[in-house]
Amino acid sequence: MANLHLICMPEYSSWTAKYYGELLRSKNHIFEISKAGFGCARLIKNEAEILILLVDPNFQKSGYANSILENLHTKLVNLKCDKIFLEVAELNIAARNLYLKNNYSQIARRPNYYSLKNGKKSDGLVFEIKFPLKV
Ligand SMILES: CC(C)(COP(=O)(O)OP(=O)(O)OC[C@H]1O[C@@H](n2cnc3c(N)ncnc32)[C@H](O)[C@@H]1OP(=O)(O)O)[C@@H](O)C(=O)NCCC(=O)NCCS
Repeated sequence: MANLHLICMPEYSSWTAKYYGELLRSKNHIFEISKAGFGCARLIKNEAEILILLVDPNFQKSGYANSILENLHTKLVNLKCDKIFLEVAELNIAARNLYLKNNYSQIARRPNYYSLKNGKKSDGLVFEIKFPLKV
């Protein structure tokens, strides 16, 4: 997981294998793992935050992130979660499109929240989805 994190997000600080080990052992961190990538959310009472969602570049643009996200939603809703939020860098077009396509709405902006390894900054965009979905 730590290796995939480094490969998928080279411009951001990566997470160590030790840190992933701690998350995997934690009861309130919910993982969805596929052969192409994984997602992880922290669940506190009825609210969750998606902390990470990665797909191996060799498998990207094939629908894996959509599946991981849908399965993560199902797991969280089954655990009585009715609200999920997350934050992405404004520069991360792929992630923004992924969440917008999956019915998330942008609810806030955090100016210059992300410091990239190249010294640049990116605003953080906060997205939210509520369940049950209103269609
Ligand atoms: C964001 C990421 C998870 C998408 O994974 P993926 O498996 O390629 O995504 P999918 O094939 O399931 O695509 C789902 C939707 O995401 C959007 N999307 C995915 N890749 C995109 C790209 N390169 N450019 C623009 N939109 C993109 C599209 O809306 C797409 O739907 P569509 O195919 O109907 O147009 C992947 O690019 C990745 O791992 N990026 C690095 C890690 C990261 O930034 N994670 C998110 C923040 S934690």
